[in-house]
Amino acid sequence: MPLLQINHLGHTFGGLKAVNDFNLTLEEGELIGLIGPNGAGKTTIFNLVTGVYRATEGEIIFNGENIVGYPPHKINTMGISRTFQTIRLWDGMTVLDNMRVAHHSQVRYGLFDSLFHTPAYHRQEEEITEHSMELLRLFNFDRFADMPAGGLPYGERRRLEIVRAMAARPKLLLLDEPAAGMNPGEVDSLMEFIAWIRDEFKLTIWLIEHQMRLVMGICERLKVIDFGSTIAEGKPEEVRNNPRVLEAYLGEAAEELG
Ligand SMILES: Nc1ncnc2c1ncn2[C@@H]1O[C@H](COP(=O)(O)OP(=O)(O)OP(=O)(O)O)[C@@H](O)[C@H]1O
Ligand SMILES: [Mg+2]
Repeated sequence: MPLLQINHLGHTFGGLKAVNDFNLTLEEGELIGLIGPNGAGKTTIFNLVTGVYRATEGEIIFNGENIVGYPPHKINTMGISRTFQTIRLWDGMTVLDNMRVAHHSQVRYGLFDSLFHTPAYHRQEEEITEHSMELLRLFNFDRFADMPAGGLPYGERRRLEIVRAMAARPKLLLLDEPAAGMNPGEVDSLMEFIAWIRDEFKLTIWLIEHQMRLVMGICERLKVIDFGSTIAEGKPEEVRNNPRVLEAYLGEAAEELG
């Protein structure tokens, strides 16, 4: 059974067909990419998979279960985590507290426990702090634990978002333009970082990215969409030479890549 199976996924905003008959089979341990021009529907697909929007058509089967209609926190608890196209950290909160908040979809104590600070509340809060620190140590972020997240350099904040997404112990990690705004050196180290996470945590990673250096350097296969529809798929080198992709999207990006 694949980890994720998407069948005939479609989504309409008002009269606009943002996603049209999108299909994907994702096996455990794969690292794949979703590319295409601005407004193609990439982020919308991630929003459908994570329950931000409810798909108007099709199925999203995760671990054998159709998750269409499930709320985001439930999908997160089931094992799908994501990062956002623009950084969404709590800048005024410490790095550690950013990690702690991310555990919230998993909290098992009730309102009573949190109001009256019962032993169950304390036990769970301790576990959350421990797991947060464990992740920070593993990713070499523990030195920043007490700093406000907004005080970190840009590249570190983008990485921290990925570390934070690991709080839910995901099986599938969705990264929406993780390399946005990075220079080539930063992109190289991000590539190593992503590959290391996949191997270390035995994760499946699906990413959206415009930086061709990262897409071509790290993804095992790609899907290309334009106006909500799939126009090509395959290994990076196949997609790269596909005339339809060159015309719709890669013409400029290929020039950039040299
Ligand atoms: N909440 C919304 N309401 C109405 N239209 C939306 C909404 N979200 C996205 N759209 C539209 O759906 C289309 C797909 O948008 P989406 O954000 O998925 O594109 P994208 O491929 O992620 O683009 P980019 O590379 O610029 O991030 C666009 O035309 C966009 O304007
Ligand atoms: Mg987007």
